[in-house]
Amino acid sequence: MKFKQNALAAVGLALTFVVVPVAAQDLAAGQAAFEKFACASCHGADAKTSVMPSYPILAGQHADYLLHALRAYQRGATGSTQVNARSNAVMTAMVAQLSDADMRNIAAWLASLPSDLAISK
Ligand code: HEC
Repeated sequence: MKFKQNALAAVGLALTFVVVPVAAQDLAAGQAAFEKFACASCHGADAKTSVMPSYPILAGQHADYLLHALRAYQRGATGSTQVNARSNAVMTAMVAQLSDADMRNIAAWLASLPSDLAISK
């Protein structure tokens, strides 16, 4: 019985140190996707000098916020009425082309850019 408890404790300890692999974001791929999908045509190549003042600044924004926003536009495209869905004709069309990996990479790259939005960089 003692052995069984020790064995269980050892397994528990081992599991504690198992590193859950987190998909690494690829900043270069994020920049490439931003260019490939013509995001810069509205948001600007630096993602903060947009063609219209009403278009949001993306550079320096938190990556998780940006990813959340992009996913919310995708949810909105399904006609979802859930709270976490955004409905915007332009962005709905834009995110339709993006894979989840594209969105994660783009969000990470945008967050890495210098901007007044950043708290400290
Ligand atoms: C035709 C112009 C246009 C293009 C092209 C465009 N966007 Fe946008 N984007 C907008 C507008 C306008 C908004 C604000 C929409 C709203 O009010 O929800 C916006 C909003 C966003 C937001 C939300 C920002 C926030 O602060 O909540 C993100 C993120 C974003 N765009 C990323 C992208 C990416 C990535 C691409 C390329 C795949 C892209 N945009 C292409 C015009 C554009």
